Amino acid sequence: MEAYKQLLEGNKQWVKEMLDRDPEFFDKLAKGQQPQVLWIGCSDSRVPANEITRTLPGEVFVHRNIANMVVHTDMNMLSVLDYAVNVLHVRHVIVCGHYGCGGVKAAMSGQQFGLIDNWLRNIKDVYRLHAKELDSIVDEEARFNRLVEINVVEQVFDLTKTSIIQNAWRSRQEPFVHGWVYSLQTGIIKDLNVSFGSDSKLPNIYTMDASIVPIG
Ligand code: CO
Repeated sequence: MEAYKQLLEGNKQWVKEMLDRDPEFFDKLAKGQQPQVLWIGCSDSRVPANEITRTLPGEVFVHRNIANMVVHTDMNMLSVLDYAVNVLHVRHVIVCGHYGCGGVKAAMSGQQFGLIDNWLRNIKDVYRLHAKELDSIVDEEARFNRLVEINVVEQVFDLTKTSIIQNAWRSRQEPFVHGWVYSLQTGIIKDLNVSFGSDSKLPNIYTMDASIVPIG
């Protein structure tokens, strides 16, 4: 069977399974969503947010891109973040990277990949910020793994630099931001312990007052 037909077949079976478990499952979901979590992950097909966290539809609001980046000019990411924080009022925002990330690996190489090089340059900037630590790691695999982790940490900080997160912290002391890394080899998620619910760890240059003032 062609791959796309398998998906439709799989969907039919899934609907049946869900209805067997809870006959009102879809009726309830159709009324609206109240997810507590925004997930910012990699587009990699091996890291599906719901499946690896054993969550159901309705539980996780999801944004995925190559190498789980929080890029400040990315209207897509900013729109998802603003909607999740200010309309859905999620309690947690999780950046989840993964070891073996092709985007991070490509950024570490000196090769050209096309348009994506512009996206990957954000990861190269992360490398430059942490070049001292990364260059000191002799083993290439270990250096790759460490860049995956550091990249997640920097994306968590990038979240906290946004006015969206800072204003939410000011008004409701939420959401908490977190950085995780998933292992393709074991299936286990590692918490990098970079959870924040305030800007106390953020360098002053990034913290902003509540009111907007004209620049001049
Ligand atoms: Co990836």
